[in-house]
Amino acid sequence: MLNFEKLGKKNISFVGLMGSGKSIVAKKIARLAKLKLYDTDKLIEKEAGHSIEDIFREKGENHFRKLEEKIVINVLNQDNCVISLGGGSILSKNVRKIIEKNSFSIYLKVDINILSDRLKNSRRPLLVNTNKKEKLIELFNQRKKYYSNSSLIIENNKNANQVVEEIINKLKIDEKTNYI
Ligand code: S3P
Repeated sequence: MLNFEKLGKKNISFVGLMGSGKSIVAKKIARLAKLKLYDTDKLIEKEAGHSIEDIFREKGENHFRKLEEKIVINVLNQDNCVISLGGGSILSKNVRKIIEKNSFSIYLKVDINILSDRLKNSRRPLLVNTNKKEKLIELFNQRKKYYSNSSLIIENNKNANQVVEEIINKLKIDEKTNYI
């Protein structure tokens, strides 16, 4: 087990814009540290019984954000787990407060040009029928103050395995014992 007591937190969470690699990196860290993994987008879809695209289209962004806040807060109260948070969840002040209190948050920072390239075929609701790069710049400008408040900031302009290695070194997770 990871030594969360030493970290002074209940869990580890990943924040950042869509396409920044949160899901894949969280999955790899969870596997390595033998921790439970939560992906909040997946939990929202499970609870709603609809895809995120359908929720946005049928009920609108406000409805999605309310559902997201409820689910994200619930997960952020869990112990000993790794959480991949939807990119916009930090827009909620309540979510930001719980992250600060309970979570060792890791911001995966990615160059906007790389992001817009990675997301060129994405069907994410905020990116459809819009200039993706301009939208990503707008979202980044709106959110950067929250993302940069994270416990750790990691540049993720490289492949997932290199990023995982960097995080492990920073957290000093011993791969054999899984202690920090
Ligand atoms: C969103 C990010 C998405 C998803 C929804 C809205 C956002 O999650 O929650 O499309 O506002 O940035 P990912 O960051 O996991 O792609």
